[in-house]
Amino acid sequence: MSTIKHSFFFALIIFLSFNACKNSNTNSMSKFTADEEKHRPLFHFTPSQHWMNDPNGMFFYKGVYHLYFQHNPGASVWGPMHWGHATSKDLKHWEERPIALFPDELGTIFSGSAVVDHKNTSGLGSSENPAIIAIYTNHDSEKADKGEAIDFQTQSIAYSLDEGFTWTKYAENPVVKNPGILDFRDPKVFWYETDQKWIMSLAAGQEIQFFESKNLLSWSYLSSFGEGIGNHEGVWECPDLFLLPVQGDDTTKWVQLVSINPGGPNGGSATQYFVGDFDGKEFKVDPEFQSAMEEEHSYWLDFGKDNYAGVTFSNWSNEAKGVLYLGWMSNWEYANVVPTTKWRSAMTLARELELVENQNGFRLRSKAPSEWEAYTSKVFEKESISAENKTLLVEKGSVDLSAAQVSLNLVDLNNKKYTFQLENTMGEVLSFGIDQEKNQFFIDRSKSGETNFSETFSIKPSIAPRTAKSTALDIQFILDKMSLEVFYDKGETVMTEIFFSQAPFETLRLNTTGNSIKIEDLQILELSKN
Ligand code: FRU
Repeated sequence: MSTIKHSFFFALIIFLSFNACKNSNTNSMSKFTADEEKHRPLFHFTPSQHWMNDPNGMFFYKGVYHLYFQHNPGASVWGPMHWGHATSKDLKHWEERPIALFPDELGTIFSGSAVVDHKNTSGLGSSENPAIIAIYTNHDSEKADKGEAIDFQTQSIAYSLDEGFTWTKYAENPVVKNPGILDFRDPKVFWYETDQKWIMSLAAGQEIQFFESKNLLSWSYLSSFGEGIGNHEGVWECPDLFLLPVQGDDTTKWVQLVSINPGGPNGGSATQYFVGDFDGKEFKVDPEFQSAMEEEHSYWLDFGKDNYAGVTFSNWSNEAKGVLYLGWMSNWEYANVVPTTKWRSAMTLARELELVENQNGFRLRSKAPSEWEAYTSKVFEKESISAENKTLLVEKGSVDLSAAQVSLNLVDLNNKKYTFQLENTMGEVLSFGIDQEKNQFFIDRSKSGETNFSETFSIKPSIAPRTAKSTALDIQFILDKMSLEVFYDKGETVMTEIFFSQAPFETLRLNTTGNSIKIEDLQILELSKN
């Protein structure tokens, strides 16, 4: 999709949301409310009402996780963007807070990041009470709508002196002016220890541009990355550059995330990653990584259709663990029409990202955060079982699968296909698994419930190539009312998809043809409801 089209897209959505606002009234709203609450996840963040897209400005400070988000408080479709706000102490319970950033004379508030200015480089706080600085894109929709100029996105800052709860816009905004680039947005800032300076990565057309600053207030251009590398079928958005230790090694590598819409492996929005080095000026992809990338384009953070625009938390560092990431659990192909009306969209589970180097080269792995196990109550564990044909793993009434985590190991993949099926009393089925002949994972949500709100939602099963070579397959999946997050091969391949079943799934079976298969370490955990 060209950049021009992308801006038309925003214009169209503004129109739709304007009309949705005009047409909505409390009666039509309440008609949906009771029923649609059945889709609301228990422990993935959702706004209490109205529209949400990208996670923004995430940081961890004094034991609290802060999540801001693209929010239209006036309707349940995309529209004039604000930064909504939510906090959590445990990544499971989220509390929605008052809106953090409102549109101003420079425009609405698009995506961006936040940092804790510990050294008071900006002079806006103090070292005893560091300012939290949010860096975001101002989108001047009036200018965009006129269609006469393309420089309607600029970067601005706001600061908070009370740990992220209330904000003041910086008087000299914007801090990065638009040099004449149509899509110029989503600043992600981090502290670059080696040179004692801040680095910003910014999506600029089909590239990422890097800027540096000593004080977060004045920025200079450093370099660009991305021409001819990776996927360019859509607009580049929401970049994030971070350093990761290579697991089991004493080296580190830089990883660049870039979200792209459309162009995802299964259609619509998705996030690609690049592994390389950053010297304080330029990011260069490892040559082996790049050639592998050109051969098999399997460098997607998540192959499911519903994990977009995710970035990492700042001020959360744990050398051994890696970084903490969270994405928006939807896809621009249908985000505005999914069958909830009072509220729209959920975030993914927060995930730890780690880097490994194995026979496939560098791979970014995603894992449920370590705190996670604390929220599960053990329901069922079995060291070893043998399964064939249709084996019931969870029978009706034994485990509440609407919020559950299942993990298991398929010991020797010697059949053609292994399909896990979640089923309910309405005859709805959500299937996923591995097609051994094709060396491919899949999710098929075509019979999972409501699907006809969009032509692309379940037009074909989503697939992901398997990169791990082992004959054993480690699987973990997490269900939360409307979402399935599957982590294969310890998170080397991830698939996240949403669904809208009319009733909760109650049984889980594994279907396979041919030989029996040994399942080891089967563990089914119900997620505690409070
Ligand atoms: C990504 C995105 C960003 C933009 C925001 C607008 O989903 O398009 O590039 O800042 O959403 O809401």
